[in-house]
Amino acid sequence: MMHNIDINKMNQLMEENEDARQIISQLLENHQITVSTIAHEIRNPLTLISSALQIIQVQHPEVTEFSHWKQTMEDIDFMRQLLEELSTFNNGNTLNYSVFSIEHLLKNIAISFAISLDEADSDIEFSSSIPDNLGKFTGDKIKLEEVFLNLLKNAREAIPGHGTILLAAGRKKDILTIKIKDSGCGIPTENIESIFEPFKTYKQGGTGLGLSLSQRIVEAHGGSISVASTEGKGTLFTVKLPI
Ligand SMILES: Nc1ncnc2c1ncn2[C@@H]1O[C@H](COP(=O)(O)OP(=O)(O)O)[C@@H](O)[C@H]1O
Ligand SMILES: [Mg+2]
Repeated sequence: MMHNIDINKMNQLMEENEDARQIISQLLENHQITVSTIAHEIRNPLTLISSALQIIQVQHPEVTEFSHWKQTMEDIDFMRQLLEELSTFNNGNTLNYSVFSIEHLLKNIAISFAISLDEADSDIEFSSSIPDNLGKFTGDKIKLEEVFLNLLKNAREAIPGHGTILLAAGRKKDILTIKIKDSGCGIPTENIESIFEPFKTYKQGGTGLGLSLSQRIVEAHGGSISVASTEGKGTLFTVKLPI
């Protein structure tokens, strides 16, 4: 895994030497293609296995009583999710730009998140504060949506029973600030440094890709993502995006 110091060295090399810039860019591109190809090649047979198992379950409902059936279905679903996140992570810094209203995007996310809580009969109170004057934004709409959904998903997973989640947005001059605050379990101080690292998870069934992917996407937009958390009290993620 490359650390910030290696990335800084690599960027410096690329700035100083045109040949190095070309070779490193080519290597990075090859690396991305390799990861995409592997993810794609595994995803195809996995989809076939998953469909076959679903057909078996429909035709022979008694299989659900087999001791490992439920676990197998969950493992397959986890692999599917992992491959999906891996492929989004891999393409995280390639943006498809369009001009769109960020307040519409956030309002839609708030509505679908509220509906998903409702459907799950959750004991979480969700509120949002999204003003009307955020203006037009140029960026990758689908990837940004992924960022906010990831942060909301983490907030939800941090609250085992009753709790609150707030999604708030604001704009000061040319900086857009989006905050996602939860009253969940919080993050222990010793973990806070590592939560943005790929594959770092402290959850059962976690992939550890959500935050690293979100950070990649936000930084590709020239923005930043930061966290403040108190164990046992809750967590606040702040995304800043230049508009
Ligand atoms: N809102 C939050 N409250 C508490 N812990 C969090 C929160 N968001 C992220 N974390 C911690 O950061 C880790 C990494 O998050 P993420 O990259 O989304 O991966 P995953 O959710 O798959 O574990 C989580 O396992 C969790 O320990
Ligand atoms: Mg997550």
